[in-house]
Amino acid sequence: MKKLALFIFSGSGNTRYLAELFKSNLSQSFSVEIKEIDKIIRNIDPFDNDFDMAGFIYPVHALNAPSIFYDFIKNYLTDGNGRSAFVVRSPGDPFFDGGSCKEVAKSIQKKGYEVFHESMIVMPVNIFLRYKDPFIKEILEAAKKRAKAVRREIASLTPAKQNASFLLRLITFIASRIESFGAPLFGKDLKVKNNCTKCGKCANDCPTQNISMIPDKPRFGWKCIICMRCIYGCPVNAINPFVFSFFKLKKWYNLKNIESENINNAETEYRNRKFYKMFEKYLKDKYSAKNHREV
Ligand SMILES: Cc1cc2nc3c(=O)[nH]c(=O)nc-3n(C[C@H](O)[C@H](O)[C@H](O)COP(=O)(O)O)c2cc1C
Ligand code: SF4
Ligand code: SF4
Repeated sequence: MKKLALFIFSGSGNTRYLAELFKSNLSQSFSVEIKEIDKIIRNIDPFDNDFDMAGFIYPVHALNAPSIFYDFIKNYLTDGNGRSAFVVRSPGDPFFDGGSCKEVAKSIQKKGYEVFHESMIVMPVNIFLRYKDPFIKEILEAAKKRAKAVRREIASLTPAKQNASFLLRLITFIASRIESFGAPLFGKDLKVKNNCTKCGKCANDCPTQNISMIPDKPRFGWKCIICMRCIYGCPVNAINPFVFSFFKLKKWYNLKNIESENINNAETEYRNRKFYKMFEKYLKDKYSAKNHREV
């Protein structure tokens, strides 16, 4: 059986959830292994070059892939030598469809991979706006359907390319430059409450090793990439941004719990809102590679 390596970055868990879906969907056609790129960068996991195809799955940060993803591709990914690859992004909404996949695909191609497939699977947003549980459940249902369709296309090597106009790529470039400038400031704005148990989990988990326990209290350096992992992963919810407090969702969510919740119609009044209407096309779209082929 051919080997598929899924290189993923997941700040707060959504992309990991998606990668697990891909793994279970694709395991009939491939022997699949999920590789968390920040663990490779931090020398926790070794880079194993023994794969026939590579998948790259990432969350969207300010319309682009997180900077750590480009760092991995440039400095840690070995030569593709013509191996096939695909790119999937997991944004928190379906707007500005396209931009970053092209940029990520370009950098992977520079390393000698043949990128035949680019697609998007929306997941719940992890900053600013907490979607209601029934809405999250709808997004997860749509994600599962899309993941199945994408799996068929990947297994049959069906090409799919995302559209990305010059304007969209320009907006993506500008937005992600602003984010890169602001991210270290966000890290320095993080405050730890007194209920911190000094367990060290945040320092161990941080993908950029931006947190040190000095002497036993977390201190934040200048390498933050706003992945939100320390904030949502703290067992006692002790980490909070101060100036950027609006970044943190009021209540974190557990995808596995929401997945198994029963939702009744009385809880779906959000469907009348304008914001939902903008999602509707995505949620109802019967995904196929044809819909996403470059024009
Ligand atoms: C700093 C930051 C910027 C984000 N920017 C965007 C964005 O421009 N567009 C979008 O759709 N989602 C955006 N998101 C939402 C995430 O891409 C989305 O929730 C993703 O599924 C999170 O995946 P993860 O849990 O694997 O990190 C952003 C999230 C963060 C933390
Ligand atoms: S994970 Fe939370 S409790 Fe543990 S050291 Fe970090 S801030 Fe403190
Ligand atoms: S400090 Fe927190 S938000 Fe910043 S990169 Fe580390 S884990 Fe992510």
